[in-house]
Amino acid sequence: MGWPFIGETISFFKPHRSDSIGTFLQQHVSRYGKVFKSNICGGKAIVSCEQELNMFILQNEGKLFTSDYPKAMHDILGEYSLLLVTGEVHRKLKNVIISFINLTKSKPEFLLCAENLSISMLASWKNCREIEFHNEAKMFTLSVMVNQLLSIKPEDPARRYVLQDFLSYMKGFISLPVPLPGTAYTDAIKARKRLSARVMEMIKSRENKEEEMNKALREEDFLDVIMSNEDLNYKEKVSIVLDILLGGFETSATLLSLVVYFLAKSPSLLQKLKEEHEAIRAKKGDGELLNWEDYQKMEFTQCAMSEALRCGNIVKTVHRKATHDIKFKEYVIPKGWKVFPIFTAVHLDPSLHENPFEFNPMRWTDKAKMNRKTTAFGGGVRVCPGGELGKLQIAFFLHHLVLSYRWQTKSDEMPIAHPYVEFKRGMLLEIDPTS
Ligand code: HEM
Repeated sequence: MGWPFIGETISFFKPHRSDSIGTFLQQHVSRYGKVFKSNICGGKAIVSCEQELNMFILQNEGKLFTSDYPKAMHDILGEYSLLLVTGEVHRKLKNVIISFINLTKSKPEFLLCAENLSISMLASWKNCREIEFHNEAKMFTLSVMVNQLLSIKPEDPARRYVLQDFLSYMKGFISLPVPLPGTAYTDAIKARKRLSARVMEMIKSRENKEEEMNKALREEDFLDVIMSNEDLNYKEKVSIVLDILLGGFETSATLLSLVVYFLAKSPSLLQKLKEEHEAIRAKKGDGELLNWEDYQKMEFTQCAMSEALRCGNIVKTVHRKATHDIKFKEYVIPKGWKVFPIFTAVHLDPSLHENPFEFNPMRWTDKAKMNRKTTAFGGGVRVCPGGELGKLQIAFFLHHLVLSYRWQTKSDEMPIAHPYVEFKRGMLLEIDPTS
């Protein structure tokens, strides 16, 4: 169980390659088996690297288990964050987010926005030989999100401030909760306050009559939809906007970087991706934009994204607590103990996946079978509502990227679980325009 109070927290969260389970889990699994006891984040914990138990934990959310993020995260996320609320409030807020996602996916303006931003970002690299790809990917996904949510346009200086604040906000999650000036934790709380104030200001300004009249002159965005929902108070409205941005922009950017990273290591797979996109382009008129049907034709691209999620492990685990004494197979989980279902361990389990460390998109041809053996988007009532939306914008970006550039990563580049995935060299990419 490790040291008093801190237990094994530091070793559990120690950074490691995200396409591996890391030394802590390796040693513990070989010594104690796939399910073991520990002391993590200030409490007794069960760590599960077993697929069936992980599924059981996710499926029994609200019945036998509940979300249990550390207190420091509550201060950063705010009391109405979807990751923290439970029961009726969770259902109400999640329905609003699902409606955003369904509305956005089917909107031609969303596809147009994702594609135009991809084209303009790639054009801006015209004279570059090297780019920090992960930063560019974050700027791309954030631009798409803030455009759809808040009508912030790419040329608007607010976009950069929002990105800066979000990066500080994310850093705070993985920091020690030290409430002193200058610490990542304090910066994250300040960044959240600024972001909330910015969204609140937008709501207030839209509420005044003059702006009501301006609304007729601009396209409706999701903030308008949230504002018209009378069941939500102001704090809930602001929290929904932050949750969509928090849940959506960094995860999608990381997935884009992971696909580019794994493909750089495999020229034959990169060629396959290129052929798929050339075939789609060949059937379209000059400058004709992509649509939903084109996305559905991107079968190999979709397999590559799913495989990058499995190998790259954007979310290593989620935080849960047992609300009852639980017996599952030979395991006993006492009431009140923390529970960590480790997604990475299941994704890289050799008893579930042949050559688990090999990036092989073709294993996703049987999608239903693979979906039963992976949990990149969680599961149960807290399953991620945004996965498909994230993949859609990435597929559009990849379409233009693979048709415009060849790329290579540095030989020592690697994704690292921090626990959020970062790249050793920021995914420094050498690029070369195609003819
Ligand atoms: C593409 C990469 C993505 C990955 C790997 C990912 C992963 C996850 C995971 C594992 C969870 C479950 C957390 C838990 O059980 O505690 C989650 C929840 C969530 N995700 Fe995603 N996500 C992605 C994209 C998105 C996007 C694009 C959005 C928004 C547009 C989004 C919004 C959310 C929200 C709001 C939740 C909270 C759901 C709840 O508590 O019921 N995600 N995500």
